[in-house]
Amino acid sequence: MTMRLPALLLAAVLCLVVHAHEAATIVPTPVQLIEGTGTCKLDTVTVDCRDAALLPAAQYLAQSLAGRATVAATGGRATPVKLALDTTLEASQYRLDIAPGHIDITGGDYSGVACGIATLRQLLPAASGSIEVPCLRITDKPRYSWRGLLLDSSRHFWSVDEVKRLLDLMACYKLNRLHWHLVDDEGWRIEIKRYPQLTGQGAFRPFDSHDLGCEERAAREHNADLRVDRAKMKVDEHGDSVYGGYYTQRQLRDVVAYARERGIEIMPEVDFPGHSRMATTVLPWLSCQGEPSSTLCVGSDSTLQFCKNVYDEVIDIFPFAYVHMGGDEVDKRNWQSCPRCRQRMRQCGIASIEGLQGWFVRQLEAYFNAKGRHLVGWDEIADDGLGTGSVVQWWRGWNKGVVERATVQGKQVICSPTTCLYFDYGQDDGTIDEILRYDPRSTAGLSAGQQQLILGMQGNTWCEWIATEARLQYQVMPRMIALAERAWTSDTCRERVVARFHEKLPAQLERLDALHVRYKLPDITGVSEHTLYNGHGVLWPAIAYGKATLRYTTDGTVPTSQSPAITGPVEVSRDTHFTIASFRPDGSRSDMVTATYAQARYMPALDVSPMTDGLLVEWHRNTGGDHCSDIAQGALIARLVSPAVQLPPAIDHDYSVIFKGYLYAPADGIYEFALGSDDGSQWLIDGTLLIDNDGPHSTVVRRNQAALRQGWHATEVHYFDYNDNGGTLHATVRCVDNPALQVTYKH
Ligand code: ACM
Ligand code: ZN
Repeated sequence: MTMRLPALLLAAVLCLVVHAHEAATIVPTPVQLIEGTGTCKLDTVTVDCRDAALLPAAQYLAQSLAGRATVAATGGRATPVKLALDTTLEASQYRLDIAPGHIDITGGDYSGVACGIATLRQLLPAASGSIEVPCLRITDKPRYSWRGLLLDSSRHFWSVDEVKRLLDLMACYKLNRLHWHLVDDEGWRIEIKRYPQLTGQGAFRPFDSHDLGCEERAAREHNADLRVDRAKMKVDEHGDSVYGGYYTQRQLRDVVAYARERGIEIMPEVDFPGHSRMATTVLPWLSCQGEPSSTLCVGSDSTLQFCKNVYDEVIDIFPFAYVHMGGDEVDKRNWQSCPRCRQRMRQCGIASIEGLQGWFVRQLEAYFNAKGRHLVGWDEIADDGLGTGSVVQWWRGWNKGVVERATVQGKQVICSPTTCLYFDYGQDDGTIDEILRYDPRSTAGLSAGQQQLILGMQGNTWCEWIATEARLQYQVMPRMIALAERAWTSDTCRERVVARFHEKLPAQLERLDALHVRYKLPDITGVSEHTLYNGHGVLWPAIAYGKATLRYTTDGTVPTSQSPAITGPVEVSRDTHFTIASFRPDGSRSDMVTATYAQARYMPALDVSPMTDGLLVEWHRNTGGDHCSDIAQGALIARLVSPAVQLPPAIDHDYSVIFKGYLYAPADGIYEFALGSDDGSQWLIDGTLLIDNDGPHSTVVRRNQAALRQGWHATEVHYFDYNDNGGTLHATVRCVDNPALQVTYKH
C-alpha cells in the first residue's frame, strides 16, 4: 500500500541550499553523520509511506515541510521521501539517508521515524523558502529513553494551541515525554465526567497571590510578558473577574493524538494526596475536617474511591503506560488528629503518618497496575515499599542519594532535580552549562544495572510565575535544547558537550527567530554591576549571538528598540548609571542589566600587622534566621581557620558562619569582589558593606569593586543557609588592573 498526501501549499520562491557543514549544527548531536556529495532538491516532494502505522508521521512530515516545499500527491519530478520501519533497529533508533533523488527515513519504531523527521527539519534552513538539503547518511539513537518536559497547567492555564506549539518545539529537539501537571491547589484543569463540579467550580479563580505578583513584577520591570494573560480571564455569573480554563476530554484526546504524531507520549499528573486544595474546596468531604485543605483524607474510603474514579477517566484519556500520582509535599498534620485516618492506621497496623502516605501510594499502585499502567511519583514515595514496576521521579536536589537508593531496589528513576532542571528558576549561560554537565548515569558508584534503571531526564516548568506563552518560551528556551542534547548524546566528556553546544547554539537561535519564539538571549557579558574608574572608563558589553543588539539608557529608564545601540566601546568620563538591554532580531527585549560607573576613591591601608595565615571562621548554630544579622545569635559551635573565603570541610551542617580577618592588597588598584551564595551573604571591607547578598534565596552571585591602597584591609564575610540543606558559598577577588596579582588573608 502506498499512500500519498495531497498537495498542501504552493512552491515558494527562494532557493536556499543547506551545505553539509550546516548539518554540523544539528541538535541533539547525532551518533554518526557521514557526509555525501551533492544535494537533494525538496521543492516538490511526495511522502511515500507503505506502513499504515506511519501515516501520522507522514502527516507530521507534510506539516513540517508546509510553506517550504510543495507536497505532491503523485511522483513526476517530485522527490520521494520514504518513511519505513525496520525492526532490526532498536527502539527510537533511526537512519536518515539523503541522496540526490530521494530521502529515506527508517526507524526501529514510530518514535525512531519521528526522530528522523526531526533531524530532516533541522536540515531545512531556518527561513522559509524552497530548498535543497545536503546528501548524507545519519545513523542515530538516544542515550535516554525519557527526554521530558513538565508543563504546569494548574497555576496558569495553557490553551490547546499553546500546548501544541510547545509540543512542536519539543519534537524539533526530539524530546519525547510531556509530563502534564493538570491539577493543583490553584486550579482543576481536566474534565472529569463523574464530578463535573471539579471544572465547573474549580477551573476559574479570582486573582490569587501569584497573579498579583505577576502583575506587580510586570509593572516594575516594564515587561508585558510577565503579566497575566487577559485571554484567560472572564467575568463570571456573579459579575466577578476570574482567571482560568480547563480541557474537555475531547480536547485532551486531540492533544494526545497531536503529540503521538510527533513521537511524544503524554504522562498525565493528577497530584494526590497533597496539592489538593482546589479539589477539597469544590468537594470538602474529601478532606479530614470537611473543609478546604491542601491534603486529602486518606482514612476515608469515599476519598480513596474518588481518587480511583478520577484516575479511571484519566487512564481512559491518556494511553501512555505511565501515570503520575504526585505524592509530593504532603502536609500530613490533619491525619494525626483525624479519627478516620487514625482508624486506618490502627486497622492496617501503620505506625506513623509517613507510613499512612506509603499505604495510600501502594493502594494507587495496585490500582494502576491492575489497569496495566506504571505508577510514577515524586521522590517522597521513594521509600514507600513500592514494587519495581513503579517509577521514582527525583526532584529535591538536596535529597541526595535518591537515584542510588531507588535503583538499588530495582526501581526506575526519572531525574529532574531542582539543582539544574527546574525551568521556572532563573536561567543564564551557567545554568545551561550545568544541564550539559549533568549526566545521571555518570553518578559515581552506580553499577551498570543501576545505570540502566535511569530512564532519563526531564525539565520541570512550574508556572506560578509564568503566565503568558512568551514568558513560558523565555523560561524554557534555550535550556530545553541543552536538555535535549544532554539526554540524547552518549558523549560522556562534559567539556566537549558544553563546547559543542555553544558552537551550535547561534544556529538554533536563528531557527527560533524564524519560529517567532521568545527565547532568552545569551547573557550580556563584559559588564559589572559596579565599576570604578581612574579618570575615565569604558563600557563595552558583549553578547554571544551576532544577530542580537544591545541598547542602553543613562536616565534610569528601560531601554527600548529606539535606544542607542552599543556597537563598540562607550567612553565614560563622569559617574553614570547605565541600563543595558538585549534585543532579539525582531526587536523584542530579552534581558536587562545595570552598570554603575563611579570615580575610584582609594581606601587607605590599615596600620596593622596580622600574624596568622588565613581567616578566622566563627561557626554558629543555625537558628533558622533569614538574615546575616541573625547569625551571631546562634551559639558558637567552633572557631576554625580557612585560607580564603570558603567553607572549611568540617562544616557540613549548621551553615551559619562569620569569616573575620585582613585581606592583603599586593598593590594599589581596583579590586573586583564576587560573592555567590545560597542563601544570604554579605562582604564588608574596612567596615563598609561592599556586597549585600542577604536574605533567603537560591544561588545568586553579586559583584562590587573597591579601590584599595597596597596593604592590609579589614575583611568580614557573613553567610547562612536558611533551611540548612547544603551550603553554597563562592567568593573571589580579582585585581582589575593586573589579574595576575593575588590577595592573601591573615588574622
Ligand atoms: C515539586 O516541585 N513539588 C515536585
Ligand atoms: Zn483523615
